[in-house]
Amino acid sequence: MNKLKRKTAVAGNWKMNKTLSEAKALIEELKPVCAMADCEVILCVPFTNLLTAVELTKGTNLKVGAQNCHFASSGAYTGEISAPMLGELGVDYVILGHSERRSYFAETDAIINQKVKAVLEAGLKPILCVGELLEQREDGITEEVCAMQIKLGLKGISKEEIKSVMIAYEPVWAIGTGKTATAEEANAVNGYIRGVLELLYDKDTAQAITIQYGGSMNAKNAQELLSMEHIDGGLIGGASLKAADFGEIIKAASR
Ligand code: PGA
Repeated sequence: MNKLKRKTAVAGNWKMNKTLSEAKALIEELKPVCAMADCEVILCVPFTNLLTAVELTKGTNLKVGAQNCHFASSGAYTGEISAPMLGELGVDYVILGHSERRSYFAETDAIINQKVKAVLEAGLKPILCVGELLEQREDGITEEVCAMQIKLGLKGISKEEIKSVMIAYEPVWAIGTGKTATAEEANAVNGYIRGVLELLYDKDTAQAITIQYGGSMNAKNAQELLSMEHIDGGLIGGASLKAADFGEIIKAASR
């Protein structure tokens, strides 16, 4: 299978931005900008905006995602949100293992793995984020770090279940820094990750998995990154908050 047969997906990761009224305004701006997209477009908004995002995007080509969830389906976890709660809202995707969750909230690969399972069990689709720190790249262990995060994050996930999972390769040093990996660097790691997926599953399965790139993707560099063989879309932070820029990225992904 080649790139053209895989699903391309562009997801906006709004992070902790936009109050409800601000979110409504941005979604209304995004609707026409995204209408011609020939790829999956996902808006990963804060929990407080999810229900409104689902309602406002009904009947459009836009899908809605959350940015995290708990691994239990319910229970004494003050302040947490479960996957079934998200499912009932009409959410389709959940970002898991984002580097900000790993570093600021001490999420381990074992916890992330439990979350992947919980999201799949609730009938939703995980976007599993992996990526190395700057020191790890400098130490030449980018591949080892990504392989470990993929293997542990997907532990116990069957060949059938992996069909509902997307991967996002996000080098931590490129997130929010304006420093993008070159298209060649990003493609090399995405291709490496596909090789790890082939070892875990099989060639056809690995070829069919959408592997995004994330980390300072913007209106200017999107086309080059998205033209690469193993880059099947983007996970976009900063540029997803500007309708015109997000629209340019979607246009680049649709070619
Ligand atoms: P950025 O964020 O596009 O602002 O670098 C990407 C992400 O964290 O998913």
